[in-house]
Amino acid sequence: MSISLELYKPPIVAPSMLKCDFGDLNREIDRLVSAGSHWVHWDVMDGNFVPNLTYGAMVIASVRARTKAFFDAHLMISDPAKYLDYYIKAGCDAITIHIEAVPDPSDLLKRIRAAGLQSGLAINPGTPVAQIEPYLAACDLVLVMSVQPGFGGQKFMPEVLEKVRTLRTLVSPQTLISIDGGIAGPTIASAAEAGCQIFVAGSSIFDETDYRSAIDQLTQLAAAATSPAPENS
Ligand code: DX5
Ligand code: ZN
Repeated sequence: MSISLELYKPPIVAPSMLKCDFGDLNREIDRLVSAGSHWVHWDVMDGNFVPNLTYGAMVIASVRARTKAFFDAHLMISDPAKYLDYYIKAGCDAITIHIEAVPDPSDLLKRIRAAGLQSGLAINPGTPVAQIEPYLAACDLVLVMSVQPGFGGQKFMPEVLEKVRTLRTLVSPQTLISIDGGIAGPTIASAAEAGCQIFVAGSSIFDETDYRSAIDQLTQLAAAATSPAPENS
């Protein structure tokens, strides 16, 4: 079962709930949905796998009923096996774990799919594609980190695009490639050209007052980068 491309047509700009107003989560969700977003990226951090602590399954569960948007949980945590059921129960639609936390993720990816969710595997900037190659068939999405995980507002690392290009040749057409970190106007086109379909964006959306125009602009830039050049160009 893969992510329904009818429902979620790439390029998909995925607002990262790391840079949002945590003091008013319901309102932030409402603002994203009225801005036309159907995808919410939850950056879960445990203060151990990454040097930052955000929120857990309870927070995601608390806003699940607020929207039908696709909840994509990015678990930057050391022991995802221990907590997986909480995220499944919280109503996540996709759960992405890090290969650096789970060297052999086969069982966990199977558990995610067996629960009817989409399975994802994330790699940090310094992790080679070879480390996840054996598990790609068990993934509905692969998340390439374009910053060191832990904080928003960091500088995009273009060197990871080589890994996107390699992954594009290795994964099945149904497997979506997602990129996370430093995605903004100046960087999204190169990520789209390299083969990404999901673009996690924190600062470039939540630092703007008008979420709709921020998301639309990013979507248009990604779409333009991958649409065929006009005939007589
Ligand atoms: C890093 C986080 C950030 C966040 C996006 O662990 O995952 O990449 O989602 O933040 P910006 O878009 O501000 O880089
Ligand atoms: Zn993320």
